[in-house]
Amino acid sequence: MSIPVKILLAENIHSVAKERLESEGFQVDLLSHSPSEEELLKLLPQYQVLGIRSKTEISEKVLKANPHLLCIGAFCIGTNQINLKASTSIGVPVFNAPHSNTRSVAELVIAEMIGLCRQLCDRSMKAHVGEWIKSADGSREIRGKTLGIVGYGHIGSQLSVLAESLGLKVVFYDIVKKLPLGNAQVMRTLSELLEISDFVSLHVPETSQTKNMISSAEFKKMKKDSFLINASRGSVVEIEDLVVALKSKHLAGCAIDVFPMEPSSNKEKFQSPLQGLPNVILTPHIGGSTEEAQYAIGLEVAESFRRFIRMWSSAGAVNFPNVDLPARPSVSRMINIHKNEPGVLGEVNGLISKAGANIQAQYLATDEKIGYLIVDIEVVDGHGLANEIQKLTRSIKTRVVLAQK
Ligand code: NAI
Repeated sequence: MSIPVKILLAENIHSVAKERLESEGFQVDLLSHSPSEEELLKLLPQYQVLGIRSKTEISEKVLKANPHLLCIGAFCIGTNQINLKASTSIGVPVFNAPHSNTRSVAELVIAEMIGLCRQLCDRSMKAHVGEWIKSADGSREIRGKTLGIVGYGHIGSQLSVLAESLGLKVVFYDIVKKLPLGNAQVMRTLSELLEISDFVSLHVPETSQTKNMISSAEFKKMKKDSFLINASRGSVVEIEDLVVALKSKHLAGCAIDVFPMEPSSNKEKFQSPLQGLPNVILTPHIGGSTEEAQYAIGLEVAESFRRFIRMWSSAGAVNFPNVDLPARPSVSRMINIHKNEPGVLGEVNGLISKAGANIQAQYLATDEKIGYLIVDIEVVDGHGLANEIQKLTRSIKTRVVLAQK
């Protein structure tokens, strides 16, 4: 018999998550708003699993008061809103969905390349106020142009495939060796890429290395009349230097989705030195914001919940050693999360052997703080054994899913 699991999904998480989890036999309750700390302290004792989006803060106080939680899901990309250190210390993995919106970002970039080449936004805005600018001057096709992709990860490589299908030549630069897709060509240096690209599109993470990686020296290396697109992180481009490159007409335009300072809500005013400049597309960090991405995020995190609850698979957890063992329903599966100190495995195995249980498979993964042990085991009293193991001083959490008879 499976353990009865109650799941709370807050912040209007896409309905596909509830449907998916209910089809597994879990009980799911919904909250349309982002619960406060006080509300969480009141609600969580009734639930084993919590799903939130980006607005709900999960503090150390909330986590320490709810060590019974099995796992938490951030139905979004970032996990800054959750105190990950505290979550790890009580043995609660946190799952997110970092790549469910990859395609949405890649599609936006394609739209922006065409939009920039045709001055689409400016001409549309003018038509709205009665100005009729029918002219081919400065309007170009994207076919045959060179797209330089900086960061050939999930989004960069997806963009590469889409761009080639539209007849662009693709070059890319990455600090890690990456397999070029289609006819894309690797560039040895960023400078090499900047010098030959008609479009430079940035798809790197925020790191100390990428902070202001595109500033005045890089703009100078870019081709005259080329375009810059940034839908990665606001810190990657030195905005004042971009303004200079646009005002001097060295660049023919840009599309920027992410900014060094972004409003924290739709109610706050947005300000940028890029406002009012010609052929500059500004969007409010919507690269990954589509209904399809929300749907995919709902499915991805719900699937992580299912795999953890049913099989104790921690694959994809951001704060936990990642372990993914194939399902073996004919034997019981036990997990033990413990402080990563020498000798714990010996103590656990001593208790297993004392119980006369037969180990079918065992897997231990560790990080500097915790050890995550999964044992597939033939045992008469699985819960009794789990209770004994949990009593070890260095055990954080021990759980068992019993064999299906
Ligand atoms: P990813 O991790 O799959 O790929 C990033 C790539 O950049 C990796 O291949 C990495 O090796 C490379 N890289 C790292 N440092 C580099 C450097 N100094 N120079 C060149 N390459 C470097 O990430 P993913 O999913 O493709 O996301 C890329 C960016 O897009 C991230 O910053 C992410 O936050 C952002 N993003 C923005 C969204 C939006 O709404 N605008 C939505 C989703 C992601």
